[in-house]
Amino acid sequence: MSSPSRPAPPGDAPDDAPQPSDQRPATLDACRRCDLWRHATHGVPGDGPTPAPVMVVGEQPGNQEDLAGKAFVGPAGRLLDEAFEKAGLSRESVFLTNAVKHFKWELRGKRRLHKTPAQREIEACGYWLEDEFERVAPRVVVALGATALKAVLGVKATALRKVLGQPIEHEGRTVIPTYHPSYALRVPDPAAREAAFDEIVAALKLAAKFSGKAARKGAGKTVVKRSAAARSAPESAPKPRPKSKPKSKPKPAAEP
Ligand code: URA
Repeated sequence: MSSPSRPAPPGDAPDDAPQPSDQRPATLDACRRCDLWRHATHGVPGDGPTPAPVMVVGEQPGNQEDLAGKAFVGPAGRLLDEAFEKAGLSRESVFLTNAVKHFKWELRGKRRLHKTPAQREIEACGYWLEDEFERVAPRVVVALGATALKAVLGVKATALRKVLGQPIEHEGRTVIPTYHPSYALRVPDPAAREAAFDEIVAALKLAAKFSGKAARKGAGKTVVKRSAAARSAPESAPKPRPKSKPKSKPKPAAEP
């Protein structure tokens, strides 16, 4: 059972359960577009400079991110920091965010364990990702894992392994799919773990290459750090998404 001081774990609503995804909340804290807010401590917005040449998109906040209200501060974030370092790309130069902004979890003993977000939750949260795309205007987007890739391409299914590390041109941006750092942390076989980490590094290197010098370490980009208060009260409500925006078919991108 959940502790009284913590929100209760999410239930398993079916994917077609009704949800108020037509709401246009002004702030993440006011978001009720799906039910995940009920079970989270904080909504976790993206963080980094706006605009930024590179945006890195993860899946959803984990336990530590939920408590801190900040993306990628737990174990996956630490591995991602190592990958940034090895790729020669500074974390401060990229905009780091998640496809879904509230932690979805289930209780196992006393631990809150990650649960993969449902398609309807990814779609509901697309409202915030679209807002971030507008503010950040990235040239390159690194998608960490299948959930991020689905959210970024606006599709319901992807074969991540088939497109790993292959740049995809989509809506004027280059999308680079790679593994999620949590995958690289949990693969039992050390060689496979190292290979997964190397894939992430290669994707970040490619992102730096595609985005040009601006994203490279020491390029002197101004970092706009938003306070916790500002993070929960964005400047303005995101613009409404067109209801049935045609999704352009992703095309492989040419080398720069
Ligand atoms: N995993 C993610 O996808 N995002 C985070 O912020 C942390 C862990």
